[in-house]
Formats: sequence, C-alpha cells, structure tokens
Amino acid sequence: MKNIWIVFVGAVLLGACNNSQPASQTGKIMDTNVVKDLHTLSNADSISIKHLFLDIAVDFDKKRISGSATWTIENTNKLSEIIFDTYDLTIDSVLVDGKKQTSSLDKEIEFLGSALHIPIAANSQTVQIYYTTGQYARALQWLEPQQTFGKKYPFLYTQSESIYARSWLPCADGPGIRYTYDARVQVPKGLLALMSAENPQEKNDSAVYHFKMDKPIPAYLMALAVGDIAFRKIDKRTGVYAEPVMADKARYEFEDVGKMVTTAESLYGPYRWGRYDVIVLPPGFPIGGMENPKLTFATPTIIAGDRSLVNLVAHELAHSWSGNLVTNKTWNDFWMNEGFTEYFERRISEAMNGKDYADMLWELGYEDFEDEVSNLGKDSKDTWLKLDLKGRDPDAGLTDIPYEKGSHFLKLIENTVGRKDFDVFLNKYFAEHAFKSITTEEFLAYLDTNLLNSRQAAKDSINIKAWVYGPGIPANCPRVKPVLFEKVDAARTQFLDGTPPAQLNTESWTTYEWLHFLRKMPKSLTVDKMKALDEVFHFTKSTNSEIADLWFAMAITANYEPAYEAMEHFLSYVGRRKFLEPLYSEMMKTGKQDMAKRIYQKYRQNYHPLAQESLDKTVLGTK
Ligand code: BES
Ligand code: ZN
Repeated sequence: MKNIWIVFVGAVLLGACNNSQPASQTGKIMDTNVVKDLHTLSNADSISIKHLFLDIAVDFDKKRISGSATWTIENTNKLSEIIFDTYDLTIDSVLVDGKKQTSSLDKEIEFLGSALHIPIAANSQTVQIYYTTGQYARALQWLEPQQTFGKKYPFLYTQSESIYARSWLPCADGPGIRYTYDARVQVPKGLLALMSAENPQEKNDSAVYHFKMDKPIPAYLMALAVGDIAFRKIDKRTGVYAEPVMADKARYEFEDVGKMVTTAESLYGPYRWGRYDVIVLPPGFPIGGMENPKLTFATPTIIAGDRSLVNLVAHELAHSWSGNLVTNKTWNDFWMNEGFTEYFERRISEAMNGKDYADMLWELGYEDFEDEVSNLGKDSKDTWLKLDLKGRDPDAGLTDIPYEKGSHFLKLIENTVGRKDFDVFLNKYFAEHAFKSITTEEFLAYLDTNLLNSRQAAKDSINIKAWVYGPGIPANCPRVKPVLFEKVDAARTQFLDGTPPAQLNTESWTTYEWLHFLRKMPKSLTVDKMKALDEVFHFTKSTNSEIADLWFAMAITANYEPAYEAMEHFLSYVGRRKFLEPLYSEMMKTGKQDMAKRIYQKYRQNYHPLAQESLDKTVLGTK
C-alpha cells in the first residue's frame, strides 16, 4: 500500500512543477493539495464557478453556433484573471459585471485549444463571453437532411466527452470543475432542441427553447441535439426521443427502461436527476451511447427490433451514479467512470435477466480485456488503471482497459469481501460523494477506511497496487465460466468437425451466444464454411449491428464476397467508430486497400469529424 502514496505524492508534485508559467502570470495559485488536470487550460479550479447561462442560436446554413456564455463566479482566491478553455472559437466580445473588458486568446496548443484570458477584480461576479463556433468544432456533427432517417430536416448533435465542450462554448473544461446551468437556445422553425437538462417534449412555434440543469455537472456533460424530434412516453419518469419515423420502433425497443431505472435504484440508491430519457440519434453518431445527464444519447444501431441490445442503455443509465454523480477528477482516473459503470451495468443486467445472462457479459468483457492487453503489450503503462495521459489526447486512454480491468477489479473486491458488504460500501460511497469529482487515490483511501482497513487478509489478497499501478492482467483476475457458453462451444466444435449448421442446436440463443459462437471461430474460415453458416443463419442480412459487424469482419478475412454488398451498405450510413475501425483496418490488413479507399472516400462525409481523423490515418495513411 505504501508505494501508492509515493506514486500519488510524486504525481502531485510533478503536476505542480510542470506548471510552466509562473503563478503571477497565469493568475494560478500553486496548491499542492490540488491535483492538476493537465487537459484543461482553465484556472477555474482556483476560482469558484457557480453557474452558466448559455444563450445561443443554432445556424444550420453557416454550420455554426453563436451567442453568449455568462458565468457566475466567486473569486475566492482574488485572482487577477479567469482563464477559459476554447477550441476554434471566435471571441466577439467580453463583459465583466456588464462592462466591456479586453480579453486575449493564447496560441493554440495541440488537442487543448487556446486559453482565453479575461482580467477580473476580486469582487467580480459575472463574466459574459460572446462567441461563435468554428468549422473545426470537434464536438459538433452537422447532418444534411439525407443523413437523417426522415431525410427532410438537418440535424445537429454534440459529443463533448472528453475535452470537446470547449469547441462549442467557452468553458472550464475539466471533469473536476462543476456548475449548474440554464440555457436559451434558438433553432430554425420546425425543429426541436434538447439538452442534458430539463427538456421540452414537443416543438413550439417560437423555436426558442429553455433549459435548466440544477445539479452541478462538469463541462463534458454539456450536450445539445437539434432536429425533427418526437417524444414517446415509457412511464412517468422515462421516455424516448427520436426522429418521427423512428419514434415507435425506439419506444418498442426501450420498453424496459423504466424498470431498469428502478432496478438500478434498488442496487445503489435513488436516481438523483429527475427524469431519465433516451434520444436515439441519426446513424452517424460516432459512439454507442453517451451518458448526458437526464438524456442519454444513443446510436440507432441498438434498435435491433427485438430488444436484444438494450444493455447499452443499462450502461449509460449506470453512469447516472458512476460518472455523473461521482466523477473522475481527471482523465487519468477515467477507469473510475467506466470501470464502475461496466460493473454496475452487469449488476443491473443480472438483476433483470439472471446470473447466467450476466455471466456471458462478464466473459465477453474478459475476452476484450485479454485482447486489449495483447494489443497494447502486457507491460505497457497504458494497461495500468491509473493512466498517464500527459501531453496526449485523452482519447488515447479510451481503450478496453478502464472498462474491463476496472470492472474486473471491482468484481474481485466484491468476490473477496462478499456482495452484501460491497453493496453497502458502494451505496455509502455514492451518497457521500454525490456531485463531487474524485481521484483514484481519493477512492483508494476511502476504500481502505471504509472497507479494507479492518480486513488485512482480504486487502493483501486483492493486491491493489498490481491492479492500479501495474500492467497487464493481474494473476488474481476473476473469470467466470458461463454455463450458457458450454452449449455454444459444443455447437462450434461440431460445426468445425463437419456437422451441417442446420443440425446445430442454437435454440433460444441471445446476441451474446451468437457473438461468442462467431468470435471463437478460427481466424479465417473457408469460403465454403462461411457460405454454409450464412445459408442457415443469414448473418449477412442480420439486423443486429453487433452480429453484423463481427460477421463482416470475418467475411473480409475469409474473402467471402457475398457479404461485401451488405457490408458496404452498413459502412455507408453507420458512423459508430467501434464498428468502422475494425472493418476498415481488416480490409487494410488483408490486401484490400483499394476496396477500403474506395468505400471510405465515398462515405467519408457521413462520418463524425473524430472518426474522419482516425480513419484518415488507418485508410489514407495521413498523419
Ligand atoms: N462515456 C462513454 C463514451 C465516451 C467515453 C465518449 C470517452 C468519449 C470519450 C460511454 O458511456 C460508453 O462507454 N459508451 C460505449 C457503450 C458501452 C455499452 C460500453 C460505446 O459508445 O461503445
Ligand atoms: Zn461508459
């Protein structure tokens, strides 16, 4: 245990020393008790930021947002300036307590953007910044009508995590800085706007919408969606938003969401955010889901028609506790958001679908963990739970490690101390840290005091240091053997030994059995074997995006051409990076560079700016 504290103190000191400009110049105070978040240029951790009033207009013709952000502050440390994060923003003017003030923008730093300096007085209370977003706003995806389901109206959505909020509003963009907000958003007539806040349920004639978030949240949870959007009720406090043509399908798919919220509450305490709604976005949305408070943003690729992929909603809902209520203080502590959430998601799933079902999720997650460790290298520091993202884009930390090593670490603690005591601990942990951001080290200290201190043997057997500050898969990593996979393994073996697919017993298989069946096939199947599977199970035509994506990757490896047309169609409209990256990189690896380039160039404009950035590298070889 001791070494942890050495590492911790070392990190704090390093952070403080690396603060390259003298305090007098930046208005920063050197406080070695404060952990430095290296991904924000703001000094708002030393000024108390209370509230934001955002007053913006969304212009689809010019593809930009403009308006003002008014921050209510309390300059408790009497600093001479306040610094905000910006990324490709034009600052039109700045008012401090209603009086015009000159401000200055620093030169842009890669990933981080430009620091906006505004002189303030000891008693300054409001800072109002008029601004306009730029064409490289990484948080914004502007869709043309043909990129939506309805094809008639344009659509806009934001994706602020990790450090992209600064590209659509000037803010203190660090997960350790929280504030409440109100907003007034003007959109073109006929469209609805929604935020991570109290939301309208229908359009109004003025096309001006008002929002309120009365719980303090960090900037990465700021979110906005604008489009032709309809609402469907699920129960009293849950509902679903989607484009009108998708609304009923989405409503059907999410039938169990109300029950999910109640189940989550029965595990870890009250849901603290009022309503829980989900919005199903157009297909270009770059990720599976985003836990924007009160309103999860979700990819339409989970609308399978049979409710088989709703588990993703359990994950985003779980963030209402782990992540949104108790937040990682810096992106180096990212496992605190995602590892807890993955653990919690599987607990919700177990409570709703039974242990055998949840065991499959654990095993698939373990396999992801293994694969990621082998991708990154078993000695790589990127396989530590505590990350070191200094000088890097926080996206570099977005691997399976925080998710899977994190969730397995918590599972190990559960197994060691027993579920009952661990649940009591977690309930207390969420209650005592509600609306706070904390570091890994603060969590470990809390864990020690409240759970492990009195159990020396348990503490020794967990070996926290190996998990948090060590690489790879620790020797004591728990692994379940799902009973439901036994039948699947048997079926796969039979198939590989020559049994025709029609004779395999695949009755009542869920998505997870199918994924396991396909994942564990040999690296490259013969075209004949692919054909035999496809004729019986119709994978090429699958409406389940997880299964389809895996199947298309196998088709590329096996040169199974009958799947190519469907794969190209999939790539033409799906923007989820998790699906795009494996397909394009498999094409590149198996001598199909021309095919990859042709398809990519044709559909590149349908992908999110961040997906374009990474696929440009994978497919076009640009740096
Ligand atoms: N918060 C994440 C998404 C995220 C993380 C966006 C970091 C940007 C930076 C979200 O909760 C998430 O994990 N989504 C997953 C789905 C989940 C079921 C594992 C996804 O999008 O695939
Ligand atoms: Zn998550």
